[in-house]
Amino acid sequence: MKSVVRFDNLKIGSRISRFRWMIRGIDLKSFVVMFVLIPTIVAGIYLHGQKVSYFLRPIWQSPPKPFIHLPHYYHSNVSMASLCNLHGWKLRDYPRRVYDAVLFSNEIDMLTIRWKELYPYITQFVLLESNSTFTSIPKSFNFAINRNNFDFVESRLTYGTIGGRFNKGENPFVEEAYQRVALDHLLRIAGIDDDDLLIMSDVDEIPSGHTIDVLRWCDGQPPIVHLNLKNYLYSFEFNLDHKSWRASVHQYRKGSTRYVHYRQSDYLLADSGWHCSFCFRKISDFVFKMKAYSHTDRVRFSHYLDTKRIQAVICSGADLYDMLPEEYTFRELIGKMGPIPHSYSAVHLPSYLLENADKYKYLFPGNCIREDG
Ligand SMILES: *[C@@H]1O[C@H](CO)[C@@H](O)[C@H](O)[C@H]1NC(C)=O
Ligand SMILES: *[C@@H]1O[C@H](CO)[C@@H](O)[C@H](O)[C@H]1NC(C)=O
Repeated sequence: MKSVVRFDNLKIGSRISRFRWMIRGIDLKSFVVMFVLIPTIVAGIYLHGQKVSYFLRPIWQSPPKPFIHLPHYYHSNVSMASLCNLHGWKLRDYPRRVYDAVLFSNEIDMLTIRWKELYPYITQFVLLESNSTFTSIPKSFNFAINRNNFDFVESRLTYGTIGGRFNKGENPFVEEAYQRVALDHLLRIAGIDDDDLLIMSDVDEIPSGHTIDVLRWCDGQPPIVHLNLKNYLYSFEFNLDHKSWRASVHQYRKGSTRYVHYRQSDYLLADSGWHCSFCFRKISDFVFKMKAYSHTDRVRFSHYLDTKRIQAVICSGADLYDMLPEEYTFRELIGKMGPIPHSYSAVHLPSYLLENADKYKYLFPGNCIREDG
């Protein structure tokens, strides 16, 4: 009997000690969970939630419908008749008229390079500016202030201004749409007509002159063609990819053509120019753009606007908002993580840029330091 009792006691004792050990274990675990893990996760989501969701994009978002790629042909020594033929198009007896219309904010240098590149092919340059950014921050009419630098287009310029509506707390896309509708009106004032070509693009999406030339001289291309541009960030030193597609060229139709900046056709003409984002001369321009940009949710921390940080980010080819690339497959997303590799090529850039290299030094490889940086 005794031995049995002792045996039971022993069993109970070992159970109790195991139980105690378990409780202690749970305490330690819940302590870790409550005071270490949860705060870390909360802080992580606060600091990097955007990154987590961007990293998982390939799971939650499928890629947009692929474009139908149109091969693009060009050499300065090939005749226009041959170029039309190569594209499967027909040479016209006379070129179409071409309108280049932009909403202007403060991109003076990009505008100069753009207009010099396109000048020989454009019938009418149309520019609209507002005294409000898309995010309802008051701004000056920067083109008006600098208009004397644009004498070379004066005879072909239709210029308009529009007052901002300054509705606080409104989605920036509403003000943007409002300004684009005003640009439609300005285009009609400029005299655009059916079958004229209309370039819809942001100032920093610069089509190659020869691309516009072949589009105006040939018949047979789709009525709306998106332009595939090389994506650059900060300068032509950082070639992010070749996938910019928002710029488009339209055969104008009264009543149906609307000036917008999203996907409007399935056709994408290859290698048609340059998209230079955040290609600014001064750090103060970066700060202004970061505040005025539609996606203001990206400026999550005030230190993002610190000038020293911005200068360092520009020189390293990193991301101003510390965000992950917007990609739809893990392969591309991971391939693009980290800073953009430096490029040392200044071949096939807008000719005006090369002819005025002194004036636009900051746009060339090896010149990342900005004036007030
Ligand atoms: C340009 O074309 C002409 C005539 O077709 C030809 O003689 C010349 O060699 C070409 N030049 C180049 C650089 O291809
Ligand atoms: C913006 O421009 C409009 C019209 O040009 C003017 O009436 C308005 O006072 C301006 N607002 C600001 C904040 O400059």
